Amino acid sequence: MTEIRDLLLSRIRDVADYPQPGVMFKDITPLLADPAAFTALTDELAGIAGQTGATKVIGLEARGFILGAPVAVRAGLGFVPVRKAGKLPGATLSQAYELEYGSAEIEVHAEDLGGDDRVLIVDDVLATGGTAEASVQLVRRAGAEVAGLAVLMELGFLGGRERLEPALAGAPLEAL
Ligand code: PRP
Repeated sequence: MTEIRDLLLSRIRDVADYPQPGVMFKDITPLLADPAAFTALTDELAGIAGQTGATKVIGLEARGFILGAPVAVRAGLGFVPVRKAGKLPGATLSQAYELEYGSAEIEVHAEDLGGDDRVLIVDDVLATGGTAEASVQLVRRAGAEVAGLAVLMELGFLGGRERLEPALAGAPLEAL
């Protein structure tokens, strides 16, 4: 695991002052461009999907799509996109959440999740936890169970884990 962690870390590029001054952006494109690293990441996340007994994988727009879709295929599970508001054509469930300045809304197709589903939520970064918390609420409102949340990176200093703990209600939060 230390070896994989080092490989993944070595393929994440820090970009200072992006998208605004004072922010250190974690760029995962070098990792995606490296087949060994991308495969290792996919395998690790698919292993978590198996351990949690997930029946579906949710990916959070947009980078959660890139990671979540191969994980679903690798684990032999269905993939469900959670999109920013206004992008899905069918009947949706929507969940608003607060950002530092303003608010945002994410949506899922209501028919994609049901009472028999256990869902692993996949994303690249856990920062403040707002996006992940809203996705947990969407899963529950769809009548499905949250199997866990798996991310590549956790920015611990932003307190996302503490914020999410009540919402996850014992479901695991795995950060590689
Ligand atoms: C980023 C990241 C997570 C979210 C984490 O996505 O990919 O989804 O922010 O932040 P939070 O924990 O504070 O909610 P972003 O909204 O930038 O979307 P993108 O992947 O489409 O660039």
